[in-house]
Amino acid sequence: MPNTTLRSAIVGVGQARGKGSPTTGSFRIGYVHAQMYGRTPGYELAAAADINPGNLAAFQEQFAVPGYGGIDEMLAAARPDVVSLCTYVGLHLGMIKACIAAGVKGIICEKPFVASPAELAELRALVADSGVKIIVPHFRRYLKAFARARDIYASGEIGERVMVTAAIGDGWDLSEWGSHWLDMFRFFHEDSMPQWVLGQARVTDRRGFGHAMEDHAMVFMQFPGGGRAAVETGVDYLNDSVTMILAGSRGSVSVIGEDRLRVYSKAGERIETYEKEDGFIAAWSDMAADLRTWILGGEPAPLGFDHVAGTAELNLGSYLSMVDGDRVEFPLKHTSREWPVEVLARRAHKGLAT
Ligand SMILES: NC(=O)c1ccc[n+]([C@@H]2O[C@H](COP(=O)([O-])OP(=O)(O)OC[C@H]3O[C@@H](n4cnc5c(N)ncnc54)[C@H](O)[C@@H]3O)[C@@H](O)[C@H]2O)c1
Repeated sequence: MPNTTLRSAIVGVGQARGKGSPTTGSFRIGYVHAQMYGRTPGYELAAAADINPGNLAAFQEQFAVPGYGGIDEMLAAARPDVVSLCTYVGLHLGMIKACIAAGVKGIICEKPFVASPAELAELRALVADSGVKIIVPHFRRYLKAFARARDIYASGEIGERVMVTAAIGDGWDLSEWGSHWLDMFRFFHEDSMPQWVLGQARVTDRRGFGHAMEDHAMVFMQFPGGGRAAVETGVDYLNDSVTMILAGSRGSVSVIGEDRLRVYSKAGERIETYEKEDGFIAAWSDMAADLRTWILGGEPAPLGFDHVAGTAELNLGSYLSMVDGDRVEFPLKHTSREWPVEVLARRAHKGLAT
């Protein structure tokens, strides 16, 4: 059915004003989803829902679609084929259940995906029972610089895989931003799951996106084959606009910003530059096209549930290592039903009180 048009809807359109920060949200990612549907053949943006009338009205000024005050009302009236869930993590599972009950075929659920190991287990069962197609927009695998870095790392040009290291400064955490880097680490290791993760964090009293948030965290993991990866969040770490470094046994690749590579190998040093203009939204559009193909009976999308459930597990496992004070192996055996950073925040407050 190559000409089938999928009716899409956005839930949680984004704050009417705001500049995006780790504690105030307001990235308005719903606007990116709307642009994505607008430029991807085979989609029509049919509805939007938000509990905040001002946010909904501002969105409708830019995207002229019917608006609804909540997800249930929208699902009943608009009957969309595909729904983007652009709300915070604590709301995702309930909204996915509502979509499945309404017969939605595809869901693009924002990261961080789920709030606890118990939620992830419940979601695995729901997806298996319903057959709903879910992706999480860890879109960077669709950016050429990251795809090329992966290919160089796999090619042997810089030797065996040794270590990928990445940083996220400006007060960002391991889930609202860091989950993208965790997904990239898997991308650089043939989409495998690490065997284990070991993490530590400083947690005081920060909150953002509806949950406790660490000030500073580090996690270290090992992939099958022995490649390691490490990410530090919260404080600035790498310099010279270096986003991440892939170190091999005979060279390295530095990802500069998100569009350039500096490669050191036996052949010498070189810079590779990939187009920046329009690159982000084009990547989102490629991702939506893959979801559509999957919904219409084609290949599963690279960011489909079986993959992104692993990235959510890695995100949760990283925090659970901090909670346990121990290395955590995958698959997770934990069954807790709480965002693990809340446990760390309670401990920090107890410490302050004594
Ligand atoms: N994939 C990416 O690259 C990317 C980039 C930015 C943000 N995000 C993620 O997107 C999510 C949203 O972040 P943001 O900064 O865009 O948020 P935001 O604060 O700009 O907007 C959230 C919106 O959700 C609405 N909302 C809250 N509860 C609702 C409910 N029950 N029903 C309907 N609407 C509801 C709010 O009114 C608001 O309009 C976060 O989890 C964030 O990590 C992902």
